Parts: sequence; structure tokens; C-alpha cells
Amino acid sequence: MTPLERITELREQLHKHNYNYYVKHSPEISDFEFDKLLKELQDLEQQHPEYFDPTSPTQRVGSDLDTNFTQEVHEYPMLSLANSYSMEDLREFDTKIRRIIGDKDFSYTCELKYDGVSISLKYVDGKLTRALTRGDGIQGDNITNNAKTIGTIPLQLHGNYPQELEIRGEVVMPRAGFNALNEERIEQGDQAFANPRNAASGSLKLQSSKEVARRPLQANMYYIPSETQAGSHFENLSLARSWGFNVPELSERCKTIDDVYAFIEKWDTKRKDLPFDTDGIVIKVDSIALQNELGMTAKTPRWAIAFKFKAEQARTKLLSVDFQVGRQGTITPVANLEPVLLAGTVIKRASLYNADQMQVLGIRINDYVYIEKGGEIIPKVVSIDTEARDENSQPLHFITHCPECGAELIRMEDEANYYCPNSKNCPPQIKGKIEHFVGREAMDIALAGATIEQLFNAGLLKNAADFYSLTYNDVIRLDRFAEKSAKNLIESIQKSKTIPFHKVLYAIGIRHIGKTSAKTLAKKFHSMEAIQNATLEELQETEDIGETIALSIQQFFSDNDNILFIKKLQENGVQLATKENTEASSSTLAGKTFVISGTFQKHSRDEMKDLIESNGGKNVSSVSKSTSYLLAGEGIGPSKLEKAQTFGIQIISENEFYEMIGNSEAQEKTADTSIQNQQLSLF
Ligand code: IVH
Repeated sequence: MTPLERITELREQLHKHNYNYYVKHSPEISDFEFDKLLKELQDLEQQHPEYFDPTSPTQRVGSDLDTNFTQEVHEYPMLSLANSYSMEDLREFDTKIRRIIGDKDFSYTCELKYDGVSISLKYVDGKLTRALTRGDGIQGDNITNNAKTIGTIPLQLHGNYPQELEIRGEVVMPRAGFNALNEERIEQGDQAFANPRNAASGSLKLQSSKEVARRPLQANMYYIPSETQAGSHFENLSLARSWGFNVPELSERCKTIDDVYAFIEKWDTKRKDLPFDTDGIVIKVDSIALQNELGMTAKTPRWAIAFKFKAEQARTKLLSVDFQVGRQGTITPVANLEPVLLAGTVIKRASLYNADQMQVLGIRINDYVYIEKGGEIIPKVVSIDTEARDENSQPLHFITHCPECGAELIRMEDEANYYCPNSKNCPPQIKGKIEHFVGREAMDIALAGATIEQLFNAGLLKNAADFYSLTYNDVIRLDRFAEKSAKNLIESIQKSKTIPFHKVLYAIGIRHIGKTSAKTLAKKFHSMEAIQNATLEELQETEDIGETIALSIQQFFSDNDNILFIKKLQENGVQLATKENTEASSSTLAGKTFVISGTFQKHSRDEMKDLIESNGGKNVSSVSKSTSYLLAGEGIGPSKLEKAQTFGIQIISENEFYEMIGNSEAQEKTADTSIQNQQLSLF
């Protein structure tokens, strides 16, 4: 057997085993045997790069090298659906349909509305060629490399598939995988995802497909916009199944709207037993010919509608109320509840928002309350079963003093929250500020919330600047620390000294300064010292910096403890100024606006944007008549290109851009034969 024959054979076998494992849930070989075959294929492909195939099963493992996504136009626009909430809404939908199609016989296909992120897959000759997110419905992000890592997405179709196929579905994260992922994240000190939908969408947009491969994602397919040999949607779903897609066998054909409603009622309860979240039912006219006849309104098809389930609620008893103190001193009342099952998880605590909401609810201890899951991690108390109230119960009053440090609470006029003004000595405020300081988007020091607590309790951390005095010997003495973890922490702290200034500015936690305003301020003032010395007017002259932020900055620097804190950071070599070479300002591009698209050889897209801005130019996201240049990278979005041509806007390559700003070092590293140059020569 030639190497090519063996490669082909292995690819076919592995595609089949993947399908058996992920879609049919009935593997025919052990994981060990699978890995052995995969390893053999990987070795052969490495020895014979000439047989590279982007849809080979080896491509599922992902890579660290992925960069920003390019935007591409959908072949068929990705529409959304009109919503309905009641039987009345459904009857109205049915009447409208019958008005258009007359007394022709037809049926509906009812299926579950999967709660995840939509995806559109394109196959040519049975091979996956492209995966796009919904985006704005007209164009989406090309996430092909990430999609390839999802086991339920076939890389190679089987059976009698069409030569070209576009198929849509929803990428979901089943609840079990979601819970495990969140546990792991909390353990590692990362923020937990609020719900499986957010986890799925965050995962699909990760920059490293290798990381995506570790996320427990699943694709449920629900619609084929391209042509097939079938005459109905229901048959299309069966065909998709036969080609190797994961199409849950939960759809049913219904003749009347009463049958549709019976399907809805059945699934409103049964959906709790499914391994993934659903948020409704989708009802579709089954016949493709009738779908075409019905057509669409501005945004949604006339032949389909979504029925949204009411958010699930649970009733339970309020045992007590805790008052939590946040990083900025805000007091949040949290209800402790008799444990109750809600949407697959046992709930013991729920938010009561703030003092206003507590008053509106008029809540009392021992009340029976209804709770609901919103978009946040912690559910909320939405109402009270007042009929079940104990007559002798007493109204609950909001606290007047901080439960952590005893300071008298303050409430600003027009604000719904109380807060503790003792920001320097109130433990949860100090710990909260430290937690913010170490965050991924801030100093990126790898440690969990529990470790901060431990360091704080041991007296080793009074504020975040104390990290830089910590030694290996301090840390190794603590419980739960071993040689490796202690070494890692110290290394991570050392590494944080290279974090760029704008992130440090964000990390120090000046009230009202977010990531974006920190970046803007760093760009304008270049150093902590300059920001500290700036007048109120100078601060307010900065783009997007208003009076509130400007005052907050001045207040921060008027406090001597904060000055000492900054001084300690400086003494330890933390970046308190922008680096000359990367952020030096020039006005070469003053007055010029740029749209950038695609990926670049020398810099990431964000770095390119920074280069534009540090040379006085401006970035805008879409091409218009007033755009000066379209900076074209590899895989440039076709719609941007088309628009630029229509408006006669100059399209420049990466190299031409470096020439413009006089950056010869970057220029040398960019090969002349790059794809973007080849593409540009077409115009
Ligand atoms: S059909 C033209 N079917 O719901 C028809 N959509 O609110 C296109 N969704 O963007 C959609 N499950 O992301 C369809 N069984 C299902 C679905 C479904 C979930 C999502 C989809 C769409 C959104 C519309």
C-alpha cells in the first residue's frame, strides 16, 4: 500500500469513528485504538506534507497559531425568527399563512429551539470548506478552524450528499460539560461563565483553536438554505442525518396549530431532561415549495416562528439575607434559600439586587419566594407568594452599617445602592481590589480568589503592591502551596512587570476607569506621572473622558496612600509609562482614516490599529466615502473590498502601510509574495 493509500484509508476510518462516537454515541473501537490510528495518520501526514488536507481528522486538534477572524459574506443571509409567546400569537401566525396559501394541504415541522450560538457551514464535494458565525446576518466571522475541533461537525460527509451544501445549526454546550468547565475555571481563578450559551459563544470566539478543542461543544443542525433533492424541511433534516450531521431526533410534523401547541406543552416540561438548554420551539412550514411561496418580511421568514418558553421559576423559602460588600464598597443583599432545583442546578442563594428592590418586594424572613435565572450567574428573587406568609413575620430592614468593618453606610442621592465608604480598611474591598489587579485583562497574575484570601489572612498582602515584596519562602510556607505552585506564582508576579502601561492603569482600580478609558488616557498622557499632574480641563479634553472620570482620577491622586501605592509599583519596575518604541507618537497619518481587514504577517490586527493611532491616524470599522485607506491583509472581507472599490478608496497592502509610516524593519520581514499582494494585484 502506498503512503497515500494508507493516508486515505486512515482518514476514512477516523471520520467514521468520529461520527460513531460524537453523533451516534456508539463507538466501535476504544479511545486507545482511536488514538493509535490518529497517531499513525499524524506521522504519515508529517512525512508527506504534499498530501495535506484541511479536512483531515488530524485537523480537529486545533492550533495555537490562529489569529483574528476575518469577516465574510453569507451566501444566504442568516435571518432571525419572529417570536411568539402565547396560543393567540400562534393562531395569528397560522391565520396569516392560510390567508396566503389558501386551502392547500400542508403541515408544520416543530422542533426545539437550541439555546446556543448559530453557525453556518459550507461543504463542497462533501468537505467542510467554511464555518461562519451569524455576525450581522449579512456577514459573519470566519471561524472554520475553531469549528473543525467540534466532534459533531463532520469534516467529510458520507452518503449521497449534494456537491454544494450550506447547512445551519446551533453550537451548544451541554450542561454537564458547562458545569465541569466552570468548576475548572473557578479553581484556576478565572471568571465563571454565566450560562451555557455565553460559554459556547465565548468558546467559539477563542483565538486559539487548540483551546476550543478542549471545550465541550456540540453542534445541533436545524436548517438547510441551499438546494437539496428533498421537497420538505423534515426530509432535509433526515438527509442531513444521513450525511453525518448531528440532528436531534426530536422534531415532529404537526397538521394543526392545536397539535403544535400540544408539542409545545410536552416539551415545556420534558426539556428539563435534555442534556442541553433550549429556550423555545421553532415552528416551520414543512414544504419547501410553500416556504418559497410565503417568502419573507424585512428580517424574518413568513414560514417560520419561534415560540419562547417562559423563564423557569422555582418556589422556595427565604432563610436569611446576607449583605455582601463589593470591590467598590457597594452593598448587595443576597437571599439564603432552602435548596431548590432550578433548570438543572440546585440553588441555595439568589440576588435581591439592592435596597430599592427589597423595599418593592417587601420581603420578610420565612417568606416563600419565586426565583428565576437571568443572564447572570446568580439567580434573582422575582416575586413573593404573599398568601403563604406567616402572619407573625416582621418586615426586613436594610442594614445601616457595613457587616464587614462596621462603618456607617452611605447612599448617594438618586442611587439605588448603599455603599461602605471605608475603602481602605474594609477587608472585602481590599481583597476585591487585589482580585481586580491580578485579573486577566489587568496584570494577569495567575492565582485564584482563595489564594488571595490566604495571602491576605497571613498578613502578606495589605494591598496589591505587596505582591512585589512576596518571596518564594513567604509562599511555600502556606497551606496548599507546593514547590511548583509557589515558583509559578513568583514567576507570574515577575512577568506582570512587563504588562503594558494602559493595563496597569486599568489594574490599579481608579473608580470609573475601564479598559477602554485606560487605553485612551495612556495614549494621550503616556505616563502615570502625566496623568497625576494633569488638570481637570486637560483630562476632560481627552476623547470619551467626561467630568465623572476626570474627577475620579483627581480624587485618586489626592490620596496619599494611593501615591505610596503607585510609588511602590514604580520601585518594583512595573510599567508606569508607555514604551517609546511601540507607542511613540508621530503625526504622519494625521487626518487619515483607515479600515483594516484580514490578517497581517508582522503584526496582529490590534497592533496594526495601535500603529495607525500612534502615527496620528484614525481607525474606523466600516468603509464609507470618507475613508482614506483600506488596509488589506490576508483573507480580506469581500464586502469591504467591494465597497472600497465602489467608493474609489485606495487599497493598500501591509508593506505599503509600513512604507507610509517609515517602519522599514517591519517591511523587511514581510515577504513580497504574500497572499495579500497577490490578491491586490487583481485590482
Ligand atoms: S431556524 C430561516 N431552527 O434561533 C430559519 N433556528 O431566533 C432560521 N435557533 O438565529 C432559523 N434552534 O440561532 C431555527 N431549531 C431551530 C433553532 C433555531 C435555535 C436559533 C437560531 C436563530 C435564532 C432565531
